[in-house]
Amino acid sequence: MVMRNLFLFSFFLFCASWFQAQEVPNDFLPADFHKGRRQEVRKAMPPNSVAVFFAAPVRNRANDVDYIYHQDPDFYYLTGYKEPNALLLIYSEMQKDNDGSGYDEVLYAQKRDEKAEQWNGKRLGVEGVKNKLGFERAFNAEQFLSSDINFSMFDNVLFFDFKNDFRDGNDAADLFDLIRSFKEKSNYPSDYNATKQQLYSIIKSTEVENSANVAQTLGRYLNYYEELKSDKLLVDFVDARDDKSRIEIKEKVTLHLQSNNLNSSKLEEIMNTLREIKTKEELVLLKKAVEISAVGQLEVMKAMHPNMSEMEIQGVHEFVYKKYGAEYEGYPSIVGGGNNGCILHYIENNKPKVGNDLVLMDLGAEYHGYTADVTRTIPANGKFSKEQKQIYDIVFNAQEAGIKASVVGADFQAPGQAAIDVVAEGLMKLGIIDSPEEARKYFPHGTSHYLGLDVHDKGTYQPFRENTVITVEPGIYIPEGSDCDKKWWGIAVRIEDDILISKNGPVNLSEMAPRTTEAIEAAMKLPSPLDNFKLPQLD
Ligand code: GLY
Ligand code: MN
Ligand code: MN
Repeated sequence: MVMRNLFLFSFFLFCASWFQAQEVPNDFLPADFHKGRRQEVRKAMPPNSVAVFFAAPVRNRANDVDYIYHQDPDFYYLTGYKEPNALLLIYSEMQKDNDGSGYDEVLYAQKRDEKAEQWNGKRLGVEGVKNKLGFERAFNAEQFLSSDINFSMFDNVLFFDFKNDFRDGNDAADLFDLIRSFKEKSNYPSDYNATKQQLYSIIKSTEVENSANVAQTLGRYLNYYEELKSDKLLVDFVDARDDKSRIEIKEKVTLHLQSNNLNSSKLEEIMNTLREIKTKEELVLLKKAVEISAVGQLEVMKAMHPNMSEMEIQGVHEFVYKKYGAEYEGYPSIVGGGNNGCILHYIENNKPKVGNDLVLMDLGAEYHGYTADVTRTIPANGKFSKEQKQIYDIVFNAQEAGIKASVVGADFQAPGQAAIDVVAEGLMKLGIIDSPEEARKYFPHGTSHYLGLDVHDKGTYQPFRENTVITVEPGIYIPEGSDCDKKWWGIAVRIEDDILISKNGPVNLSEMAPRTTEAIEAAMKLPSPLDNFKLPQLD
């Protein structure tokens, strides 16, 4: 009996702690993941350098309401910290504190504040950052302002240049103050121009035998940047007539770069390289986001009817996301009926009835930071018309060709090239275009992008490597009034799947969402729990 009671008591304690643990999800990236990523950054940094990362700004929506805060993806990747007004420093080598202790990274976090937390939610504070995120060294953000960090002792201060979309708030150590303090401490020139620095770096690393080509490319590039067209060194390099003059200018550029240690291009390269390849832990979350989104597509197929509005369709997808615990959408949801589908990023979603048109639905759940990007195009009445199916099948075949080309070692452009070839041939066969060059008129966007913490994720655009996730998303859009037979007008089709590039070939992570016309029509015949969901009529 005693044993039984003891057992029951332990079971009760276990349940109590389990329920407690379930107050928040427990499948976030572990602290070790972020620590490992910081170590990878450190390995890629030049000697004697420091990397400086800032949290994303808080953005005001109107009056005293801010937009939902979303952490900067690089910052999240390296810390797991989801609050604003914070700063991360990573050092290439161990630094020594006054008391002799060593450190090679520091997080300056938002200070705890009882009143602010009562209104806007709990903050981790320094203790939380140490205990939950595993930082050995962390301070309140205001301690950065008063710190005597000497940035001039480093050969390189790596940072992302500022986009000027932050503003000073009431907090004495908010992002505005942290950036101002960093600029003061690092002697950031008031006329600092990140693009100019990048072009100078390119000139600095140009070999003499390539210098004529580089000068020519820079000349074209300068046309896009009004403020750089009068930069003497850049203009002289572009206009130089021989290698000797270009070498002289390269020396001057190198001297100029040595005049300060600020480097706003190296981190981009480091983060592109790291974030392109997904770790095991990232793939778990990314797959989950994609599968949730695919289930959303399937549920909408079951529920769809011609009387639904675009907004209602959007709501069904997003309800499924929330049901699975996905916090956000990775980008504004796109639901376009008929001609609205021809607007590539149509987000008004305000047509009251989709009628008998095709409905293009491009949506992605964001699960613990990782976002999906899945598009299905389906006939609202459950059956593709002859013309709709003809266009759909071209896009489908283009996508199949694109997915097949998504293999380790292939050029990043390979899926796009495979897809446009199929679209061009298909549109010519239907008499919609006369030559392959015209295909871009009806397929005006790229076929693939990386996917991860950002919907258009960071990457190097080099030949595909294992454990990269990309989209393959061909489309054909024939707006009203197009220069072709009227019967095609208002047909817009995009099919988008999320593809893992693996050593065993492409893996379609969104395959749970029906994709062939037959599978879609079959899914649309299935009953939906929403069939009986009736709300009262309001005036
Ligand atoms: N949903 C944005 C895109 O497909 O790239
Ligand atoms: Mn996409
Ligand atoms: Mn998309």
